[in-house]
Amino acid sequence: MADTPAAKQVVLVTGSNQGIGFEIVKKLVAEQPTYHVLLGCRSLSRGVEAVSKLEKLAGSVAPVVVDITSDESIAACVAQIEREHGKLDVLINNAGIGRHAVEELPSLRAKMAALFDVNVFGTLVMTDAAMPLLQKAADQGSVPRIVFITSEMGSLGNTLNPSWKYYQHNTSIPYKSSKAAANMIGACYSTLFEKQGWKINCCCPGLRKTAFNNHLSVAMDVEEGAVRAVYLATLDGNGPTGTFTNIDGTEPW
Ligand SMILES: NC(=O)c1ccc[n+]([C@@H]2O[C@H](COP(=O)([O-])OP(=O)(O)OC[C@H]3O[C@@H](n4cnc5c(N)ncnc54)[C@H](OP(=O)(O)O)[C@@H]3O)[C@@H](O)[C@H]2O)c1
Repeated sequence: MADTPAAKQVVLVTGSNQGIGFEIVKKLVAEQPTYHVLLGCRSLSRGVEAVSKLEKLAGSVAPVVVDITSDESIAACVAQIEREHGKLDVLINNAGIGRHAVEELPSLRAKMAALFDVNVFGTLVMTDAAMPLLQKAADQGSVPRIVFITSEMGSLGNTLNPSWKYYQHNTSIPYKSSKAAANMIGACYSTLFEKQGWKINCCCPGLRKTAFNNHLSVAMDVEEGAVRAVYLATLDGNGPTGTFTNIDGTEPW
Protein backbone atom coordinates (compact mmCIF):
# COMPACT_ATOMS: atom_id res chain seq x y z
CA MET A 1 0.00 0.00 0.00
CA ALA A 2 0.65 3.67 -0.04
CA ASP A 3 3.10 5.26 -2.21
CA THR A 4 1.31 8.06 -0.36
CA PRO A 5 2.14 9.03 3.22
CA ALA A 6 -0.70 7.88 5.49
CA ALA A 7 -1.35 11.43 6.64
CA LYS A 8 -2.24 12.57 3.13
CA GLN A 9 -5.82 13.00 2.06
CA VAL A 10 -6.57 11.18 -1.20
CA VAL A 11 -8.67 12.99 -3.81
CA LEU A 12 -9.98 11.61 -7.12
CA VAL A 13 -11.03 14.07 -9.82
CA THR A 14 -12.72 12.27 -12.73
CA GLY A 15 -12.09 13.56 -16.27
CA SER A 16 -9.27 15.84 -15.26
CA ASN A 17 -6.62 15.54 -17.97
CA GLN A 18 -8.02 18.76 -19.48
CA GLY A 19 -10.50 21.57 -18.92
CA ILE A 20 -12.07 22.42 -15.57
CA GLY A 21 -11.01 19.10 -14.02
CA PHE A 22 -7.38 19.81 -14.82
CA GLU A 23 -7.69 23.26 -13.21
CA ILE A 24 -9.22 21.65 -10.11
CA VAL A 25 -6.27 19.25 -9.88
CA LYS A 26 -3.78 22.08 -10.46
CA LYS A 27 -5.30 24.23 -7.73
CA LEU A 28 -5.40 21.35 -5.24
CA VAL A 29 -1.80 20.35 -6.00
CA ALA A 30 -0.65 23.97 -5.72
CA GLU A 31 -2.53 24.80 -2.52
CA GLN A 32 -2.94 21.57 -0.53
CA PRO A 33 0.40 19.98 0.38
CA THR A 34 -1.35 17.42 2.59
CA TYR A 35 -3.41 16.06 -0.31
CA HIS A 36 -2.51 13.38 -2.85
CA VAL A 37 -4.48 14.10 -6.02
CA LEU A 38 -5.46 11.39 -8.49
CA LEU A 39 -5.93 12.86 -11.95
CA GLY A 40 -8.65 10.78 -13.60
CA CYS A 41 -8.16 10.15 -17.31
CA ARG A 42 -9.58 7.83 -19.96
CA SER A 43 -6.22 7.56 -21.67
CA LEU A 44 -3.15 6.98 -19.50
CA SER A 45 -0.89 8.80 -21.97
CA ARG A 46 -3.09 11.91 -21.78
CA GLY A 47 -3.07 11.61 -18.00
CA VAL A 48 0.71 11.31 -17.85
CA GLU A 49 1.05 14.33 -20.14
CA ALA A 50 -1.31 16.36 -17.93
CA VAL A 51 0.58 15.37 -14.77
CA SER A 52 3.86 16.41 -16.40
CA LYS A 53 2.53 19.99 -16.60
CA LEU A 54 2.25 20.06 -12.79
CA GLU A 55 5.80 18.96 -12.03
CA LYS A 56 6.88 22.34 -10.67
CA LEU A 57 4.09 22.48 -8.09
CA ALA A 58 4.79 21.39 -4.55
CA GLY A 59 2.00 18.90 -4.02
CA SER A 60 1.60 15.30 -5.04
CA VAL A 61 -0.36 14.03 -8.05
CA ALA A 62 -0.62 10.86 -10.13
CA PRO A 63 -2.77 9.76 -13.08
CA VAL A 64 -5.41 7.06 -12.68
CA VAL A 65 -7.37 5.60 -15.58
CA VAL A 66 -11.15 5.70 -15.35
CA ASP A 67 -13.84 5.74 -18.01
CA ILE A 68 -17.10 6.28 -16.16
CA THR A 69 -19.18 4.67 -18.92
CA SER A 70 -17.51 1.33 -18.11
CA ASP A 71 -18.29 -0.63 -14.93
CA GLU A 72 -15.04 -2.57 -15.44
CA SER A 73 -13.00 0.61 -15.69
CA ILE A 74 -14.64 2.06 -12.57
CA ALA A 75 -14.04 -1.20 -10.65
CA ALA A 76 -10.38 -1.27 -11.74
CA CYS A 77 -9.91 2.36 -10.68
CA VAL A 78 -11.48 1.75 -7.26
CA ALA A 79 -9.38 -1.43 -6.80
CA GLN A 80 -6.22 0.51 -7.68
CA ILE A 81 -7.00 3.27 -5.16
CA GLU A 82 -7.80 0.64 -2.51
CA ARG A 83 -4.52 -1.18 -3.21
CA GLU A 84 -2.33 1.92 -3.31
CA HIS A 85 -3.99 4.17 -0.72
CA GLY A 86 -6.59 2.13 1.18
CA LYS A 87 -9.12 4.97 1.25
CA LEU A 88 -10.55 7.97 -0.59
CA ASP A 89 -11.21 11.24 1.26
CA VAL A 90 -12.69 13.23 -1.62
CA LEU A 91 -14.44 12.32 -4.87
CA ILE A 92 -14.94 15.09 -7.42
CA ASN A 93 -17.39 13.97 -10.10
CA ASN A 94 -16.22 16.25 -12.87
CA ALA A 95 -16.21 14.02 -15.98
CA GLY A 96 -18.97 15.14 -18.30
CA ILE A 97 -19.86 15.84 -21.90
CA GLY A 98 -21.98 18.41 -23.68
CA ARG A 99 -23.84 18.64 -26.95
CA HIS A 100 -20.71 19.01 -29.12
CA ALA A 101 -19.52 15.55 -28.05
CA VAL A 102 -22.69 13.93 -29.37
CA GLU A 103 -23.55 16.04 -32.41
CA GLU A 104 -22.37 13.39 -34.91
CA LEU A 105 -24.73 10.78 -33.45
CA PRO A 106 -27.61 9.87 -35.77
CA SER A 107 -30.69 10.47 -33.63
CA LEU A 108 -32.01 12.40 -30.67
CA ARG A 109 -32.31 9.11 -28.77
CA ALA A 110 -28.66 8.25 -29.44
CA LYS A 111 -27.52 11.75 -28.35
CA MET A 112 -29.61 11.62 -25.19
CA ALA A 113 -28.35 8.11 -24.37
CA ALA A 114 -24.71 9.13 -24.80
CA LEU A 115 -25.13 12.26 -22.66
CA PHE A 116 -26.90 10.34 -19.91
CA ASP A 117 -24.37 7.49 -20.06
CA VAL A 118 -21.61 9.86 -18.96
CA ASN A 119 -23.33 12.68 -17.06
CA VAL A 120 -25.84 10.56 -15.15
CA PHE A 121 -25.25 6.78 -15.25
CA GLY A 122 -21.46 7.13 -15.07
CA THR A 123 -21.64 9.72 -12.30
CA LEU A 124 -23.94 7.56 -10.17
CA VAL A 125 -22.05 4.29 -10.73
CA MET A 126 -18.71 6.00 -10.01
CA THR A 127 -20.09 7.47 -6.79
CA ASP A 128 -21.66 4.20 -5.67
CA ALA A 129 -18.40 2.32 -6.34
CA ALA A 130 -16.35 4.88 -4.38
CA MET A 131 -18.56 4.70 -1.27
CA PRO A 132 -16.63 1.90 0.52
CA LEU A 133 -13.37 3.83 0.07
CA LEU A 134 -14.96 7.05 1.33
CA GLN A 135 -16.28 5.08 4.33
CA LYS A 136 -12.73 3.85 5.00
CA ALA A 137 -11.58 7.47 5.12
CA ALA A 138 -14.41 8.23 7.55
CA ASP A 139 -13.35 5.27 9.71
CA GLN A 140 -9.91 6.90 9.94
CA GLY A 141 -11.41 10.18 11.18
CA SER A 142 -11.67 12.03 7.87
CA VAL A 143 -14.72 14.02 6.73
CA PRO A 144 -15.61 12.44 3.37
CA ARG A 145 -16.51 14.96 0.69
CA ILE A 146 -18.17 14.48 -2.68
CA VAL A 147 -18.43 17.31 -5.19
CA PHE A 148 -20.72 17.02 -8.19
CA ILE A 149 -19.76 19.36 -11.02
CA THR A 150 -23.19 19.90 -12.50
CA SER A 151 -24.46 23.07 -14.16
CA GLU A 152 -26.81 25.97 -13.75
CA MET A 153 -28.26 24.58 -17.01
CA GLY A 154 -29.63 21.70 -14.93
CA SER A 155 -31.54 24.00 -12.58
CA LEU A 156 -35.34 23.75 -12.71
CA GLY A 157 -35.59 27.14 -10.98
CA ASN A 158 -33.44 28.85 -13.63
CA THR A 159 -35.17 27.07 -16.49
CA LEU A 160 -38.57 28.43 -15.43
CA ASN A 161 -37.31 31.96 -14.75
CA PRO A 162 -37.91 34.28 -17.74
CA SER A 163 -35.22 36.68 -16.43
CA TRP A 164 -32.51 34.02 -16.30
CA LYS A 165 -29.61 34.88 -18.62
CA TYR A 166 -29.83 31.55 -20.48
CA TYR A 167 -33.64 31.38 -20.70
CA GLN A 168 -33.31 31.33 -24.50
CA HIS A 169 -31.09 28.21 -24.26
CA ASN A 170 -33.87 26.04 -22.88
CA THR A 171 -33.64 24.23 -26.23
CA SER A 172 -30.61 22.22 -24.95
CA ILE A 173 -33.02 19.69 -23.44
CA PRO A 174 -30.79 16.57 -23.42
CA TYR A 175 -27.83 18.26 -21.66
CA LYS A 176 -30.03 20.27 -19.28
CA SER A 177 -31.96 17.11 -18.31
CA SER A 178 -28.73 15.20 -17.71
CA LYS A 179 -27.41 17.88 -15.37
CA ALA A 180 -30.78 18.10 -13.56
CA ALA A 181 -30.47 14.35 -12.97
CA ALA A 182 -26.89 14.77 -11.75
CA ASN A 183 -28.11 17.41 -9.30
CA MET A 184 -30.69 14.91 -8.03
CA ILE A 185 -27.95 12.32 -7.48
CA GLY A 186 -25.98 14.83 -5.42
CA ALA A 187 -29.04 15.94 -3.47
CA CYS A 188 -30.01 12.34 -2.61
CA TYR A 189 -26.52 11.41 -1.41
CA SER A 190 -26.32 14.57 0.69
CA THR A 191 -29.42 13.56 2.63
CA LEU A 192 -28.33 9.92 2.96
CA PHE A 193 -25.00 10.87 4.58
CA GLU A 194 -25.98 14.07 6.40
CA LYS A 195 -26.16 12.44 9.84
CA GLN A 196 -22.70 10.90 9.37
CA GLY A 197 -21.29 14.39 8.75
CA TRP A 198 -20.21 13.84 5.15
CA LYS A 199 -20.07 16.96 2.97
CA ILE A 200 -21.81 16.35 -0.34
CA ASN A 201 -22.47 19.31 -2.60
CA CYS A 202 -23.20 20.25 -6.20
CA CYS A 203 -21.68 23.23 -7.99
CA CYS A 204 -21.70 24.96 -11.33
CA PRO A 205 -18.32 26.12 -12.66
CA GLY A 206 -19.91 28.75 -14.92
CA LEU A 207 -19.49 29.02 -18.68
CA ARG A 208 -15.77 28.27 -19.21
CA LYS A 209 -13.66 28.13 -22.35
CA THR A 210 -12.91 24.38 -22.77
CA ALA A 211 -13.13 21.58 -25.35
CA PHE A 212 -16.62 20.96 -23.96
CA ASN A 213 -17.93 24.02 -25.85
CA ASN A 214 -15.22 24.18 -28.57
CA HIS A 215 -13.53 26.97 -26.59
CA LEU A 216 -16.46 29.32 -27.07
CA SER A 217 -15.17 32.87 -27.44
CA VAL A 218 -17.66 34.41 -24.99
CA ALA A 219 -16.92 31.80 -22.30
CA MET A 220 -14.92 32.81 -19.22
CA ASP A 221 -11.41 31.89 -18.13
CA VAL A 222 -11.16 28.19 -17.24
CA GLU A 223 -8.93 28.62 -14.18
CA GLU A 224 -11.60 30.41 -12.17
CA GLY A 225 -14.01 27.54 -12.95
CA ALA A 226 -12.12 25.44 -10.39
CA VAL A 227 -12.55 27.80 -7.44
CA ARG A 228 -15.91 26.64 -6.10
CA ALA A 229 -15.14 22.94 -6.55
CA VAL A 230 -11.86 23.26 -4.65
CA TYR A 231 -13.62 25.13 -1.84
CA LEU A 232 -16.17 22.30 -1.55
CA ALA A 233 -13.45 19.62 -1.79
CA THR A 234 -11.56 21.12 1.15
CA LEU A 235 -14.45 21.63 3.59
CA ASP A 236 -14.00 20.57 7.19
CA GLY A 237 -16.63 19.15 9.55
CA ASN A 238 -18.26 22.56 9.96
CA GLY A 239 -18.80 23.06 6.23
CA PRO A 240 -22.14 22.99 4.40
CA THR A 241 -23.72 19.93 2.81
CA GLY A 242 -26.64 19.55 0.39
CA THR A 243 -25.94 22.83 -1.40
CA PHE A 244 -25.96 23.86 -5.06
CA THR A 245 -23.75 26.88 -5.68
CA ASN A 246 -21.57 28.75 -8.15
CA ILE A 247 -18.61 31.05 -7.52
CA ASP A 248 -20.98 33.91 -6.56
CA GLY A 249 -23.35 32.02 -4.27
CA THR A 250 -26.47 29.87 -4.31
CA GLU A 251 -28.05 28.42 -7.45
CA PRO A 252 -31.72 27.43 -7.43
CA TRP A 253 -32.12 23.63 -7.66
N1 LIG B 1 -17.13 24.34 -19.73
C1 LIG B 1 -18.28 24.83 -19.31
O1 LIG B 1 -18.70 25.92 -19.72
C2 LIG B 1 -19.10 24.08 -18.28
C3 LIG B 1 -20.20 24.73 -17.71
C4 LIG B 1 -20.96 24.06 -16.76
C5 LIG B 1 -20.62 22.78 -16.39
N2 LIG B 1 -19.56 22.16 -16.98
C6 LIG B 1 -19.24 20.80 -16.54
O2 LIG B 1 -17.89 20.77 -16.13
C7 LIG B 1 -17.38 19.44 -16.30
C8 LIG B 1 -16.04 19.51 -17.02
O3 LIG B 1 -16.26 20.08 -18.29
P1 LIG B 1 -15.11 20.80 -19.13
O4 LIG B 1 -15.69 22.05 -19.65
O5 LIG B 1 -13.86 20.85 -18.38
O6 LIG B 1 -15.00 19.77 -20.36
P2 LIG B 1 -13.73 19.18 -21.14
O7 LIG B 1 -12.65 20.18 -21.22
O8 LIG B 1 -14.30 18.60 -22.38
O9 LIG B 1 -13.23 18.01 -20.16
C9 LIG B 1 -14.06 16.92 -19.90
C10 LIG B 1 -13.26 15.83 -19.26
O10 LIG B 1 -14.13 14.72 -19.02
C11 LIG B 1 -13.51 13.55 -19.56
N3 LIG B 1 -14.50 12.55 -19.94
C12 LIG B 1 -15.39 12.58 -20.96
N4 LIG B 1 -16.07 11.43 -21.00
C13 LIG B 1 -15.60 10.66 -19.98
C14 LIG B 1 -15.88 9.37 -19.52
N5 LIG B 1 -16.76 8.58 -20.14
N6 LIG B 1 -15.20 8.90 -18.44
C15 LIG B 1 -14.28 9.66 -17.82
N7 LIG B 1 -13.94 10.89 -18.24
C16 LIG B 1 -14.60 11.37 -19.31
C17 LIG B 1 -12.70 14.03 -20.73
O11 LIG B 1 -11.71 13.07 -21.10
P3 LIG B 1 -10.97 13.13 -22.53
O12 LIG B 1 -9.94 14.21 -22.45
O13 LIG B 1 -10.41 11.77 -22.66
O14 LIG B 1 -12.02 13.45 -23.56
C18 LIG B 1 -12.12 15.31 -20.14
O15 LIG B 1 -11.00 15.01 -19.35
C19 LIG B 1 -18.45 18.66 -17.06
O16 LIG B 1 -19.18 17.87 -16.15
C20 LIG B 1 -19.35 19.75 -17.63
O17 LIG B 1 -20.67 19.32 -17.82
C21 LIG B 1 -18.80 22.78 -17.91
